[in-house]
Amino acid sequence: MTATPGDMVWLRVVEEGVFRFDASEAGRAAAGPSLSFADPRRREVPREGGDAPAIHPTCQAEGPVQKVVVKLPSGTSFYGTGEASGPLERTGKQVFTWNTDAWGYGPGTPSLYQSHPWVLAVLPDGKALGVLADTTERCEIDLRQESTIKLSASSAYPVITFGPFNTPSEVISSLSHAIGTVYMPPKWSLGYHQCRWSYDSSEKVLKVVKTFREKGIPCDVIWMDIDYMEGFRCFTFDRNRFPHPKSMTDDLHSVGCKAVWMLDPGIKNEEGYFVYESGSEKNVWVQKADGSPFIGEVWPSDCAFPDFTSKRARGWWASLVKDFISNGVDGIWNDMNEPAVFNTTTKTMPESNIHRGDGDIGGVQNHPYYHNVYGMLMARSTYEGMTMANASKRPFVLTRAGFIGSQRYAATWTGDNLSNWEHLHMSIPMMLQLGLSGQPLSGPDIGGFAGNATPKLFGRWMGVGALFPFARGHSETGSFNHEPWSFGEECEEVCRLALLRRYRLLPHMYTLFYHSHTKGTPVAAPVFFADPQDQELRKIETSFLLGPLLVCASTSPNKRAHQCSHKFPKGIWLPFDFGDSHPDLPVLYLQGGAILPVGLPVKHVGEATLEDDLSLTIALDENGKAEGVLFEDAGDGYEFTHGDYLLTYYSAKLESMEVTIKVFKSEGSWKRPKRNLKINVLLGGGAMISALGVDGEDVHLAMPPESEVCNLVASSELARKKLFEIIRPIPDIDEPESQQEGAEFSKTLVNLKSGDWLLKVVPWIGGRIISMKHHPTDSQWLQSSIEINGYEEFSGTEYGSAGCTEEYNVLRRYLDQSGEEESICMEGDIGSDLILQRQISILKDKPNIVQIDSSIKASVAAGPERLSR
Ligand code: GLC
Repeated sequence: MTATPGDMVWLRVVEEGVFRFDASEAGRAAAGPSLSFADPRRREVPREGGDAPAIHPTCQAEGPVQKVVVKLPSGTSFYGTGEASGPLERTGKQVFTWNTDAWGYGPGTPSLYQSHPWVLAVLPDGKALGVLADTTERCEIDLRQESTIKLSASSAYPVITFGPFNTPSEVISSLSHAIGTVYMPPKWSLGYHQCRWSYDSSEKVLKVVKTFREKGIPCDVIWMDIDYMEGFRCFTFDRNRFPHPKSMTDDLHSVGCKAVWMLDPGIKNEEGYFVYESGSEKNVWVQKADGSPFIGEVWPSDCAFPDFTSKRARGWWASLVKDFISNGVDGIWNDMNEPAVFNTTTKTMPESNIHRGDGDIGGVQNHPYYHNVYGMLMARSTYEGMTMANASKRPFVLTRAGFIGSQRYAATWTGDNLSNWEHLHMSIPMMLQLGLSGQPLSGPDIGGFAGNATPKLFGRWMGVGALFPFARGHSETGSFNHEPWSFGEECEEVCRLALLRRYRLLPHMYTLFYHSHTKGTPVAAPVFFADPQDQELRKIETSFLLGPLLVCASTSPNKRAHQCSHKFPKGIWLPFDFGDSHPDLPVLYLQGGAILPVGLPVKHVGEATLEDDLSLTIALDENGKAEGVLFEDAGDGYEFTHGDYLLTYYSAKLESMEVTIKVFKSEGSWKRPKRNLKINVLLGGGAMISALGVDGEDVHLAMPPESEVCNLVASSELARKKLFEIIRPIPDIDEPESQQEGAEFSKTLVNLKSGDWLLKVVPWIGGRIISMKHHPTDSQWLQSSIEINGYEEFSGTEYGSAGCTEEYNVLRRYLDQSGEEESICMEGDIGSDLILQRQISILKDKPNIVQIDSSIKASVAAGPERLSR
């Protein structure tokens, strides 16, 4: 066959069904080394034998730009694209991989904190294919044309295709075989995490943890944000507020709580500061074009940035981390590592900067080549430092910026979201999307980072967020308190129930992580994974799977989960609870044929001992059978890799009106604890029958006759209905309750829409425009703002953030949608009797223009009273 223009050359790589395509032999030779692959050589070495590829991408070169097109059958659904806001199903979307500090992003923001040039395509028949553009450089993923993937980046890059395989799950596993699976998280990190910008003193930290324990709300980890440092200098502790970090962490450990501390990449440019001095001596900084260290502004003002692309810098950082761990540090939080640089239009360092990268990852290059992997390499170096400190402990690192492959070193979260219903909703598809892009260990800031949650929003978010792979509550400085008890007793109770539920499910979640770590299977997956052929499941965003467990939530303020009609995959799905059903919590279903291991409702992971009772919740399939699996080990360390674990496969079978539960297979040298086994066989409608036994021995349970099953189901449904009549749900308070001065201005996002424009304005922080959308072309504003010098607005209270000048309090705002224009006006007190007035308008007669008028008024006698209308 002769090659037609656009054909790409291909190789078999990695395993059966995986192919590498390049524009040409010359293009193959020109492509940089892979940073996504766990073992980059596997992308280079051809495999013998196997079928030829079924799907052939085509390629066009336009100058230096390589454009690749993959045409798929009509009716294909798209997923993946990494950390991406907006809908789960990605048709119609355009993503630019360019790690960006994206405070308050919206559903259309085209570049967030991480880059995954990757698309999962689910074909009309349920088979699935994955496409990876293996480039670190800025890459456009264009899914605007139905069933068509278009990729473009500015230099030669290979495209790796995975499949088509029979199921999307096989594609994710195959991707993980190439890019590496998630590191095995320490078990404590699957508990609940409480964070805040900032718990700013040892006393405050200990008080928060004590409150969790006193209130019986589970929590495993407390987080220290930037304010623990001495003037934002990494690897230091503020002498007054954190005088004895080791003794504080000892106190925390004594109550079973771990401590995670923040380390940002920006190192204060200051003579005499030991980190700066040693970094300069070791010559580790990212350089400007003239070879001098690049200095950019972040929290501590002028900073130098370690060049994590070089082994020398990574080793230097890792040894600092190693020493830092001796303060009782259990985990490290790497933030601002896009890298974010304040007071620049691009929000990052200049493209002309120079990285002296190691030869095996691409050598010396300008910034754009390494921009998207800077955060991942920082996380890697942090992970290595933690391993150097104690090789027999599993590191825990959380990174904000990342690249496809980051899951080898770190967990992640979805950055600076907003406290509103739209962000609660987006948090589910975002977490799922990351999982479909190789990163299963993720979650949002539960409750929302910026702005103030209402009790109802917070409780609902905790209800569903408690079942995400990574569960952490976090909120911005200046916002109301966002601990589970900060929103009234009804909300507190919902949080307690939600988190106790998480802890009961931890044996299952830990097992899912073991499988994800060893085989690359997803932890949380979209509902369609249970039946990829069912087109109607492909856009479901409020439910998700944790293996055979289906979580159905509601993200609507007006409807609770049990009031929504949830769409189920085919087969049997039986509702169940732990006696903890609540109108503000999601509803749980177990797939027929599954056995779910369940633990005790402990308050932290350390409280669960081996001797604990174990329960198995069982949903029989149409043949009266079920199977399930439980992984157990020490919960930390690597002994499990030497066989020191217990993997138990349970089976259940209904025969002659008796269900027999057996261990049908087990693996590993870990001794089975002598423990009670409680069996709960689900009957439908939340009803179940139970029996007690001993783990490892057969348990028999008599099945009641059909008529009794019907009675049990009916009375369970009635009992639940009655319970829901008595329970006090979280009250409907639309506005956050005022806890602080100035809170009366905390309102929901304002949309200004007219003519060609849709503007989303955040009133609570002084009217920052968080997204601008131009309707006719749908061009993405944030992207354009970089290219065409667009307008960016920053809040006064977003202290120290890019573009910020003065802090000011908003005095009033009003929306005018009636007159000649669509406009919002805000007035802020900027001190010295001066008022900043800003009017953002879309003119009705010139609908293609957005007008922003800012003025400063002297207001000798103006106070809030005079200004209020
Ligand atoms: C960034 C992080 C946020 C953190 C803050 C202060 O905005 O995304 O989580 O609280 O910086 O360190």
